[in-house]
Amino acid sequence: MEKQKIILDCDPGHDDAIAIMLAASAPNLEILGICVEAGNQTLEKTGNNTLNLVQYLELNVPVALGSGKPLKRTPMTCAEIHGETGLDGFPFSLLKIKYHQQNAVELLKSLLDKNKDVTLVPTGPLTNIAELLIKYPETKKNIKSIVLMGGSIGYGNVSPAAEFNILCDPEAADVVFNSGLEVYMLGLDVTRKALVLPKVMKRMAKIHNKAADLFARLMKVFNENQLKIFGHSGAPLHDPATIISLLNPNVFKFQKMNVVIDTTGGPSYGRTNCDRFDYLHQPHNAYVAIDIDVKEYWNEVEKGLKRYSK
Ligand code: RIB
Ligand code: CA
Repeated sequence: MEKQKIILDCDPGHDDAIAIMLAASAPNLEILGICVEAGNQTLEKTGNNTLNLVQYLELNVPVALGSGKPLKRTPMTCAEIHGETGLDGFPFSLLKIKYHQQNAVELLKSLLDKNKDVTLVPTGPLTNIAELLIKYPETKKNIKSIVLMGGSIGYGNVSPAAEFNILCDPEAADVVFNSGLEVYMLGLDVTRKALVLPKVMKRMAKIHNKAADLFARLMKVFNENQLKIFGHSGAPLHDPATIISLLNPNVFKFQKMNVVIDTTGGPSYGRTNCDRFDYLHQPHNAYVAIDIDVKEYWNEVEKGLKRYSK
């Protein structure tokens, strides 16, 4: 079976880390490269976290840094959830690997010049992807789809209206959702149902390898912070939804609909206005996840961890 070529674009971030781990062990996916954006923490920290993860998982993929700042708005981070380092909770060994010599947009361009039918998988703010589409629109011909974690049909998680990844750079999200490309949006409506509850922690703790160890230690901190901030008894594990949707198409149900990003800068700035009942009869520009098979979600996480031999 030919593997689906993907390029990750992330802001590790505890849930980004699990997404990278699942993508790396997925039998049907080939990671061409990993781009990094500021988001959960500053670019310096999300970049360092990405290198640590790539080294720990022994991946042989280029890691390239984005600009570190949104197209227009002021940068924002999320230390209260992901900690001072952006990936609190795991004692990585001395970092030896380095960044790719190109920046994120140039790496995306060069990979898309050499590969067709590539799926972009952003799990952070959409700045890198937007900058690529603005600077190199011709690369669209080699982009099969964009499978992103972000947005929400319902309420937000960092303002009443907006989800974090979108609010970090609404103008970038506007470029992506208006790109004409096949966009799959896995938003809070489904990811808030994938909670790292104590029974999930117990289940994954039965696996004894480095992937499960990383999962246990990172999720312990992720849960503690989410409990403090949101009162969640288990943190919603957002970002792996992108990879799981590629691993097993039966886990999520999508509905194609019109999605408009609020870039007005008011109280709904960064909102993904999802016209689920087609009130406005506007072009259906995104497939939005409207349901999740939570049991299968965790089965895919467990299988992904078990694929690591040591
Ligand atoms: O709103 C959840 C998203 O914001 C996730 O991607 C998480 O990592 C943060 O970036
Ligand atoms: Ca993320």
